[in-house]
Amino acid sequence: MLDTLQRLPDDPILGLAAIARADENPDKVDLTVGIYQDETGLCPVFKAISEAQRQLTAEETTKAYMPPAGDANFTSGIQKLVLGDNSALIADGRVSAIQTPGGCGALRIGAEIINAAKPGARVWVSDPTWPVHIPLLGSVGLQFQTYRYYNPEDHSVNFDGMVADLAAATAEDIVLLHGCCHNPCGADLSLEQWGVIADMAEKQGFTPFVDIAYQGMGDGLERDAAGLRLLAERLPEMLVAASASKNMGLYRERTGAAIFLGKNADSAGALLSQATVAARKVYSMPPAHGAILAGKVFADASLNAVWKSELEEMCQRINGLRSQLVAKLAGVTDRDFSFIEREKGMFSFLGLSEEQAIRLREEFSVYMLNSSRINVAGVNSSNIDYLAQSIGNVL
Ligand code: LMR
Repeated sequence: MLDTLQRLPDDPILGLAAIARADENPDKVDLTVGIYQDETGLCPVFKAISEAQRQLTAEETTKAYMPPAGDANFTSGIQKLVLGDNSALIADGRVSAIQTPGGCGALRIGAEIINAAKPGARVWVSDPTWPVHIPLLGSVGLQFQTYRYYNPEDHSVNFDGMVADLAAATAEDIVLLHGCCHNPCGADLSLEQWGVIADMAEKQGFTPFVDIAYQGMGDGLERDAAGLRLLAERLPEMLVAASASKNMGLYRERTGAAIFLGKNADSAGALLSQATVAARKVYSMPPAHGAILAGKVFADASLNAVWKSELEEMCQRINGLRSQLVAKLAGVTDRDFSFIEREKGMFSFLGLSEEQAIRLREEFSVYMLNSSRINVAGVNSSNIDYLAQSIGNVL
C-alpha cells in the first residue's frame, strides 16, 4: 500500500536552504530561510536565553509531561508581549492562550478552532503570503480566497486593492493578516490602514487571525504590535498565532502560542478548552524546553531587560543592513532599490525575475527564493559587496 505514494517536491524554502548548505563555494550567500544571522553568519543564541538555560539545567528535576496548555510563565508572558503589559483585555479575562510547537503549531490550532466553529470556513489570505500558510491551514479543511496586498510595480502595499477585495468578506469569514514584517514582501500596513481594516471588520463582522512571527524585528516590540492591538481593542473576537522563534532565537525549540480573544471570560475559557482538546488530537502536549526558557525571560526582570536590548540591537542591525544594501546596489545598477529601506523585518522581494533568481544561484552561489525574496538578516559586511555585484551582473 505505502509504495503507491510518490516522492513530493521539496519545500520551496527549506529545500532551497538544503541546496545552499551543500554548496561549497566559499563566496556563497544564503538568503533563503528566515533566520537572523550575525556578522559572522551565525544564528546566535540570545544571552538571556543562555542564562535561562543555565538556570534550568541547575534546577530541573523532572522531564514529566508539560500541562496541556503549556508553561504558565510563557503563556502569560506572550499574551502581554502581544497585547501589551497593561492590556485591559487580559485584565478582563477576555484572553486565553495555549503554548504550541512554534508559530506553525499556533496556526494549526487556530485553524482547528475555526474549523470547529464553522467547518470549511473561508479564510482570506494576502497575495502573496508565506507559502506554508495555505497548506498548513488547509490541512484542517479550511477554504481560501486571496486578497490583493502587494504591488510589485512600486513595491508597496496595494491598500486600495486589499480594501476592495475584503469588501466581500462576510461575518462567516476569517481574514489572515501578518501582524508585522510581512512574509514574504516586508511591506506593512500603516496604523491608519489597520484602523480601516478594523472599521471593515466591525461593519462586516469578519474575524481577524493575525500571524505575528516577527514581533520586534521591524520597528521594535511595541510598534510592531500596534496594529494587532488596535484590532483587539475594537473587535469582539480574534485569533493570534505568536512565535518566539525569531524574537527569542528559539527556532529549533518550537516555541509559540495560539492566543484567543473572546467576547467575554467564558468564551475565552471555552476557546482554550477547545484548543487543548484539538492539541491532544494533533500532538498531545507541547514541548517543554523553549517555553520554559522563554517563560523565565518573561518572568525575570533582569533577564527581560537583557533580552529586550539584544532584540533591539538585532532590529537596528537589520534596518542598517537594509540601508547599506540600498547604497551598495545604487553603486552597481541604475535600478531603484530604495524600497528595501522602507520595508520591515527580515524579508524583501528584490523584484527580480525567476530566471534572474535562478541565475544568481547557479552562476554566483547567491541563494534567494525564486520569487526573489531575500532574508535581509543573512547579509553581512563580508558578503554585501559580492551580493550587490552579483545582482548587478544578472541585471
Ligand atoms: C521563512 O519564511 O523562511 C521562515 O518562516 C521559516 C519557514 O519555516 O519557512
